[in-house]
Amino acid sequence: MIDFDRVIDRTNTGSTKWNKYSGKDILPFWVADMDFAAPPQVLAALKQRIEHGIFGYTRASDTLSDAFLSWLLKEYHWEVPAEWLVWLPGVVPGFNLACRSAGVPGDGVMMSVPVYYPFLSAPENSSRKAIYVEKHLVNGRWEMDFESMEALYTKRCKMFLLCNPHNPTGRIYTREELSQLAEFCIAKNMLICSDEIHCSILLDKNKPHLPIASLSNDIAQQSITLYSPTKAFNIPGLSCAIAVIPNKKLRLRFENSYAGLISGISPLALTATETAFTNPGSWIKDLGDYLRNNRGLLQSAIDALPGVSAIPAEATYLAWIDIRELQIKNPGAYFESFGLGLSVGKQFMGDGYVRFNFGCPRKTLEEGIKRFQKAVLARATELGV
Ligand SMILES: Cc1ncc(COP(=O)(O)O)c(C=O)c1O
Repeated sequence: MIDFDRVIDRTNTGSTKWNKYSGKDILPFWVADMDFAAPPQVLAALKQRIEHGIFGYTRASDTLSDAFLSWLLKEYHWEVPAEWLVWLPGVVPGFNLACRSAGVPGDGVMMSVPVYYPFLSAPENSSRKAIYVEKHLVNGRWEMDFESMEALYTKRCKMFLLCNPHNPTGRIYTREELSQLAEFCIAKNMLICSDEIHCSILLDKNKPHLPIASLSNDIAQQSITLYSPTKAFNIPGLSCAIAVIPNKKLRLRFENSYAGLISGISPLALTATETAFTNPGSWIKDLGDYLRNNRGLLQSAIDALPGVSAIPAEATYLAWIDIRELQIKNPGAYFESFGLGLSVGKQFMGDGYVRFNFGCPRKTLEEGIKRFQKAVLARATELGV
């Protein structure tokens, strides 16, 4: 049994999440990494690899590729040959390279917002133009707005950047939604780059993840799908990712776009990744159970508070909380003044929201919830809501 309740002190580890507030009484619930130790089998494999003592330049082995391909087949009934894979040191480099592979400078890349903030600048990083289309809350569900996508489309729009499961709303898009998006991209001859890094952190049991590229050969031929075990196995600092690119021409264009720019993957990251795919044990299920309880705890607190609301995340360990009614000018600083480090919605093009990362031991979450309640009640009382 994994002890997810164990609180591990992360000070002096260079942690991005915890260093932001070092020396201050502010608990961090912002950046998307969890406060759990990696699974024991991953730690054992890493220790064994360290014992070897040599950490030379390393490539993904055939056994690692086979392990990943077997996982795709088992999880999604998606049969992928090894030549479709491109190994990368991260998903963020992956969707930035995808932008470089789509059309030519000046062309457009469409995405639905709010979204994981590195998406927002990716087109411009590659001299492409970002086309942002707002998502809408429809009957308690965050949805892509196909009408606006149609209206904002121009001939220079060459790619759609998809995040599924979605950060920060926690949506898992359904087969119907993904089919509609695939049809849109096929009709417009647009590529689709699908970031599926959160695909194994599913909280709603009756909602499966579906890789959009597995829907049909037509959409597969226009797709770049990005995976990584780093979120689900909580090894995000061991950067490693895989791009699945079925179309040979597109794959070559993608590979040529990074010649000389992208470093190799660390041998430790490859070891951890191989263990995650070959020997996940019950980690995914146990983690899901723990996070589901955390989600419930946070949701009950939100539901009982005035001036705030949230649709429970179907996937991920991120709650997307509507605080518009509280009319807080600087939400980051406001919640920090109550000892709480949250991600501010504006960063994701979701002004009036905050993102609360509940991937932590229960005790840490309970303290975070207490501080959140204090902060919200103080403002609600001030406004009389
Ligand atoms: C949707 C999404 N994509 C990518 C990443 C980061 O990927 P990587 O660390 O492999 O670059 C994150 C991290 O939070 C994420 O939420």
